[in-house]
Amino acid sequence: MNILVTGGAGYIGSHTCKLLKRLGHNPIVFDNFSNGWPQWVRFGPLAFGDIRDEEALYQALKGFDAEAVIHFAAKAYVEESTRLPEMYFDHNVGGTVALLKAMKRAGTKQLVFSSSCATYGHARTPTMKEDHVQAPTNPYGISKLMCEQVIGEVAPVAGIRHAALRYFNVIGNDPEGEIYERHEPETHVLPNLMKAAMTGGTFTLFGTDHPTPDGSAVRDYVYVMDLAMAHVEALKMIESRDRFISNVGRGEGTSVKELVRAVEEAVGKQVKVEEKPIRAGDPPTLVADNSFLKTWFPHPFMETVEVARMMAGVFRGQ
Ligand SMILES: NC(=O)c1ccc[n+]([C@@H]2O[C@H](COP(=O)([O-])OP(=O)(O)OC[C@H]3O[C@@H](n4cnc5c(N)ncnc54)[C@H](O)[C@@H]3O)[C@@H](O)[C@H]2O)c1
Repeated sequence: MNILVTGGAGYIGSHTCKLLKRLGHNPIVFDNFSNGWPQWVRFGPLAFGDIRDEEALYQALKGFDAEAVIHFAAKAYVEESTRLPEMYFDHNVGGTVALLKAMKRAGTKQLVFSSSCATYGHARTPTMKEDHVQAPTNPYGISKLMCEQVIGEVAPVAGIRHAALRYFNVIGNDPEGEIYERHEPETHVLPNLMKAAMTGGTFTLFGTDHPTPDGSAVRDYVYVMDLAMAHVEALKMIESRDRFISNVGRGEGTSVKELVRAVEEAVGKQVKVEEKPIRAGDPPTLVADNSFLKTWFPHPFMETVEVARMMAGVFRGQ
């Protein structure tokens, strides 16, 4: 399949392109490199452009004869979204509207959208099902919920079959170390922890008095290549189903302190940890109920400790 991958030069997008290429597809990266990396466009052609530019999207869809779109492109920093909410609605929601218009014009009929557990806000149950109340606590989460809603209204009218995947916390990188997790600034826990472990630097642990067993925040970490595979399976699903929404998480929580221990074990060194107060709006626990996911995703998930071990190996080799 020719698949337009918006945000394909970013972290999850580039890993998904790598998998698509390996499975014999042609991933066309549509990205403006605002947060992505030109050197990661190596698994298919590039259509340089801004997701808010409907005409550029239309030309890319037509020019590459795209049959489907995987839509990763977004601004994705929670803290930044509280300072620049208008930018988040512009890129995330405006970009999604432009994409839907371009797909309608080009006749592209399949869409997989990157949603997020951030659309739920604070967990009201130990694990969250897809029908958990959606009450996001920051503009980033609100923008993702708005995208789900816009797609839910526009896509059926335009005849676009679609899936929205609500990812939990994505970690790890490809085993070859060809591409990896890189955000600037890096706010994600595992690269920061790994860096501290490998360089002897300090890891900042936000929050030690959450109402969780060890006081640190509990998250559901999903390995990036497993998530990439979920997009491939979602594309298969929407061949026979008009629309679905699914969590993508392992259904198991790991606390930040447990993650520190996993990395220490993987690297064979102790990590210097500086404890800081809970960040505003940081929920204590975010864990998926993945019972629906298991009905359509037939693959096992990599354990968090295994991901840490693999990353340590990749880092050592570099
Ligand atoms: N990383 C996570 O843990 C996580 C969790 C839940 C959901 N998500 C969602 O997954 C998607 C990918 O996340 P990521 O961590 O790979 O982020 P990322 O920042 O690494 O990648 C985003 C990509 O989108 C591109 N982009 C941004 N604005 C653009 C625009 N206006 N036009 C064209 N390209 C643009 C960037 O250049 C970048 O390559 C995002 O939609 C994010 O909201 C991520």
